[in-house]
Amino acid sequence: MPANTYQQGRIKQVFSDKNAQTSYLISQLTLAEKIGQMSQFNNDAENLHNAIKQGNVGSVINEVDPDTINELQRIATQESRLGIPLLIGRDVIHGFNTIFPIPLGQAASWSPDVIELCAKIAAVESSNSGLNWTFAPMIDVSRDPRWGRIAESLGEDPFLCSTLAIAMLKGFQGDKLSDPHSIAACAKHFAGYGASESGRDYNTTNIPENELRNVHFPPFKAVAEAGISTFMTSFSDLNGVPATGNKWLLNDILRTEWQYPGFVVSDWASITQLITHGFAKDENAAAYEACNAGVDMEMATDNYAQHLPSLINSEKISIEHIDAMVSRILRLKIDIGLFDNPYAANSTSSKQLNSFHLAVAKQAAIKSCVLLKNDKHTLPLSKTAIDSLAIIGPLADDGYEQLGTWAFDGNAEHSITCLEAIKAYVKDSIKVKFAIGMETSRSNHQDGFDEAVNTASDADVAVMILGEEAILSGEAHCRSNINLPGCQEALIDAIYQTGTPIVLVIMAGRPITLATILPKVDAVLFAWHPGTMAGPAITELLFGEDCPSGKLPLTFPRTVGQIPLYYGQKNTGRPASESTFIDINSINVRAPQTSLGMTSTHLDTHYSPLFPFGYGLSYSQFEYKNINVDKYSINMGESLKIAATLRNIGKVDAEEVVQLYIRDLVASVTRPVKELKGFQRVYLKAGQSKSIVFDLHTDELAFYNRQMTLTTETGIFHAWIGGSSDTELKTEFEVILPSE
Ligand code: BGC
Repeated sequence: MPANTYQQGRIKQVFSDKNAQTSYLISQLTLAEKIGQMSQFNNDAENLHNAIKQGNVGSVINEVDPDTINELQRIATQESRLGIPLLIGRDVIHGFNTIFPIPLGQAASWSPDVIELCAKIAAVESSNSGLNWTFAPMIDVSRDPRWGRIAESLGEDPFLCSTLAIAMLKGFQGDKLSDPHSIAACAKHFAGYGASESGRDYNTTNIPENELRNVHFPPFKAVAEAGISTFMTSFSDLNGVPATGNKWLLNDILRTEWQYPGFVVSDWASITQLITHGFAKDENAAAYEACNAGVDMEMATDNYAQHLPSLINSEKISIEHIDAMVSRILRLKIDIGLFDNPYAANSTSSKQLNSFHLAVAKQAAIKSCVLLKNDKHTLPLSKTAIDSLAIIGPLADDGYEQLGTWAFDGNAEHSITCLEAIKAYVKDSIKVKFAIGMETSRSNHQDGFDEAVNTASDADVAVMILGEEAILSGEAHCRSNINLPGCQEALIDAIYQTGTPIVLVIMAGRPITLATILPKVDAVLFAWHPGTMAGPAITELLFGEDCPSGKLPLTFPRTVGQIPLYYGQKNTGRPASESTFIDINSINVRAPQTSLGMTSTHLDTHYSPLFPFGYGLSYSQFEYKNINVDKYSINMGESLKIAATLRNIGKVDAEEVVQLYIRDLVASVTRPVKELKGFQRVYLKAGQSKSIVFDLHTDELAFYNRQMTLTTETGIFHAWIGGSSDTELKTEFEVILPSE
């Protein structure tokens, strides 16, 4: 067959290009078959085989068995009238069989390379099983750690999220979508889902357009421009119009303004839920609203199959509109190469979880862990200085819980736990004793405390492995308190009373409020849900085989009442500072109102977070000096260089994530007090120093103004370089018009 021509199973045609193939298929499809292409069935749907044969199915979700998938594809390509292959979709969120850290953990690596490689491996393993479409990356910017789905997100910041989302997209889709090991990706959930009120899943969102454009849209726009194959709508109501029926969102913004060519899938049953929202009176109206808004494929429910025929016959929906939708779906099938080969890439199970995949999973977990506290160099532990170690906690030896949310295709039996890995590492050199302390992370029974206390009392160091079990985060798993659940705080207290130094390792799907327990522990390593290789990764960090280098991808509040708390806040007219903190216990009776400071703060806590965005310690220390710009004034349309000297002043070779922030001091709409604009992972040997340079173009200073146009305004900007968003190493520059 000549290059650039395509031939498909049952249609003996050769096409000059993909558009010709798409148009030909559209010309051949009946209306029912077109609607079939727009319908996604769950793998357990009744009569699935027959429906595929009849041409009523465009995609199947949740099937992962390669033989079953191959059979479905065989029926589609050989027994249906036109032989159109199926999209086989699945939530491959942070790995397929090899489970990597949850996305929020991967985001803490601040490493596009790590994230791309994890997604690449997930694509290899899932395509081996016959999948060709994942519902990831989830790029809802979220600033509410009560929301369970924050675990699936890439954090609070539009720039970090956009950069990492592009890396994940590249990993899934590869250089060429038609590569047998590339799978189509899906940007979800468009849009605003991360702002669900009170952090309760599926809840209403009210987000002004300016904030949508400046905060929530950027990651979606970035992946649309980078060529992501599909978008998924959000379950949520956005400013009174549910996203799945939101024509402004799907048509005006995505299709028209961004010129997005890919297709849009609903979320699970979210078309039917337009009725529950009170937005459509029945299924017919729901099908109309979703189709008219621009949802090309319906997931799980059958409103399209049932009602599009009459909506088209009555000319409420035009056939041209349907043809455009079906063309987008067919085009993806052609781009993936499904017409050439729809079958599982390589169903040999030995290809999964191989040593390379596991090594990458370990590295990803290592880079994701954030060292929050390390008093008196408690960490790393020394094999020679310690004789006995107590390992305590319900997450120390649980291969299932360390996988976190969305790990359907992972298997706890493949996990290596911390207890297993520590024992294997220290061999006979250190006595290791384990006490679970609590049956589960949620347990309120203290029956295991005595054993845990005895174990800790006899040991030189207690490593407590606590946090949230997998079920406490993820979809529909939100919490109103984000402290360590169950009686974990009491367990820490009990171990603290023994006087044995405590190293606290936390596995969790969200930030945890740690203010009350921090004083009782000597070191804290925040590991998120690290995945299959949690044990070896954490062990290597604890014993200094590797050095922690993760940085927080979101702010850790002191208390849940501070939420939403994020570094890129607005200044307000009455900004707080640490000096305006008021200890509520010391307020005099009948103190006059004016004594309370009159600034934007709470009475009973600091205005600042417990740990800021971008924060994370190392076993080494880094010094930042000499921030400078190569010119004070830059013309609009030009770039400047912002540089600083970074020096590893500690004793350990280590990696640091160097961060660049800016502030637009005066603008036509108020701008955040700091905005991340760049970051670099830098490896420095002990004592080594390096000049770190960021190039910044004036386009990168742009924001959406009152007219909702993307613009850079002239004026003075501050710029900071440092190892966290609270860096104070600052310089200044000015953007001018060329004629000024
Ligand atoms: C989730 C989506 C997911 C879909 C399919 C929904 O409940 O919101 O993120 O892709 O299910 O599993």
